[in-house]
Amino acid sequence: MVDVSVHDSADQAAHDAAIAIRDHVLTCVDHKQPCRLGLATGGTPLPVYRDLVRWVRSDRLRFDDVTTFNLDEYVGLAPDHPQSYHEYMRQNLFDEAGIRGCNAFLPIGSVVDPNQEARRYESLVVDAGGPTMQLLGIGRNGHIGFNEPGSPLDSITRVVDLADDTIAANSRYFQDISEVPRQAITMGIGTILRSHSIIVLATGLAKADAVARAIQDPVDASHPASALQLHSRVRWILDREAASLLHSDQ
Ligand code: PGA
Repeated sequence: MVDVSVHDSADQAAHDAAIAIRDHVLTCVDHKQPCRLGLATGGTPLPVYRDLVRWVRSDRLRFDDVTTFNLDEYVGLAPDHPQSYHEYMRQNLFDEAGIRGCNAFLPIGSVVDPNQEARRYESLVVDAGGPTMQLLGIGRNGHIGFNEPGSPLDSITRVVDLADDTIAANSRYFQDISEVPRQAITMGIGTILRSHSIIVLATGLAKADAVARAIQDPVDASHPASALQLHSRVRWILDREAASLLHSDQ
């Protein structure tokens, strides 16, 4: 049985995801266990990060003993580039939540050899033991991280070409679509599946088809998010629109 929560609004869904992350951090602290959060970028998690920042400001949450690993970064963008995921994370979570750079890891996109950087990042994530909780979004084409359709289900962190649909979707953050990098370093599907638990947050009608295929269709590399069926601790958190193509028995 798939674990699916459906909320009336996108904000409510994001709030539920934020609560799951907060409770995970607090439980790790209580049990003196390591806490490693896998984090995602994009539009969907923004309200999650707003909730987490609010709780830090009101002293209800601390990230002192939390390590974070982001899913991906664009090849060619330096960490201080305004559209880099380093900058996104600093602006939307790290600076505001007191997460220090020494505890927060992302692949570095501006290195001379991105393939070597991908191998380094894979080792970093694997040697740490994988995220204890991974927050994921899903692309309209079913991608997770930047694992585009056709990505091997056992793939590891590597350099990938972005799909045209992804470049078009992400062009909203750039002045012109020609500025969107064509490649990224992304954790692989196999890397993501190492996470001890996974939360997938999806909101809006544009995600409905990708969500339904991920949950209801057979596992297939043509739809990377379907690989999440191979993991025993995945929780889907959706708004009504993103859930609208799910069969009623889900
Ligand atoms: P979005 O991206 O949150 O901006 O829709 C999600 C994704 O592509 O994984």
